[in-house]
Amino acid sequence: MPKEHIEKAKAHTLAAKSIHWGFIVVFVYALTKQLDEVDELEDFSLLQFEMVFATIFLVLLIARFIFMQLTQPTVLPSNSPKLERRLARIVHLAMYLTLFLIPTTGMVIGSLYWSGTKNGSAMEFWLLLHEISVNSCYFLIGSHIIAAVYHRQKGDGIWNAMVPIWKERDKDETF
Ligand code: HEM
Ligand code: HEM
Repeated sequence: MPKEHIEKAKAHTLAAKSIHWGFIVVFVYALTKQLDEVDELEDFSLLQFEMVFATIFLVLLIARFIFMQLTQPTVLPSNSPKLERRLARIVHLAMYLTLFLIPTTGMVIGSLYWSGTKNGSAMEFWLLLHEISVNSCYFLIGSHIIAAVYHRQKGDGIWNAMVPIWKERDKDETF
């Protein structure tokens, strides 16, 4: 029986891979130093650090977004199903949006606290938005990883294009 031929995606560049995995390190670091309570911001040096870190995070995110949009945002072949391309684009953009909203809502919280609004409905609103952004981001990253594993099963080269470990085997290979 003839084997089904799947068009293989070309690998992402070394720069794209380094940005993708390097950014995950920054993101995980950001999560490990997350705050549990608003009152922790009473420590002025912590508040200052949070604001500076959020600014750096935003600059890196925007630089990454511009770089990827100007180079190759996806290696999905142009003949892959339209729905698949659309879904991938929506999830990638939504990840950028939530990764943008986390530090910006955090900076609003920090500014409110700095200016003396330490509680009340405005503070509650931005805390809720901060939390929703974080949880939506987790959900999107989860979906993104499931999609990556799906592509690995499909053997279309998308996994290998970005992930340096647990390489997918070539379906045309004979053993
Ligand atoms: C914090 C976690 C992650 C975030 C925020 C993230 C975000 C992204 C984004 C935005 C892209 C599109 C290219 C770009 O603009 O850089 C991408 C591509 C990709 N990611 Fe992730 N990713 C994460 C974790 C992972 C993990 C854990 C895997 C694999 C297990 C993975 C596999 C891939 C693959 C295979 C691509 C290429 C998709 C394509 O070319 O269409 N990602 N990722
Ligand atoms: C890249 C930047 C940031 C990341 C990744 C981040 C991440 C997080 C995470 C994961 C949580 C826990 C949310 C939950 O329990 O569901 C959190 C909570 C919180 N964050 Fe951020 N955050 C960032 C920036 C900031 C900034 C700049 C401020 C203020 C100066 C801030 C203030 C807070 C506060 C007060 C809470 C506790 C909310 C509560 O009482 O429930 N965050 N953040």
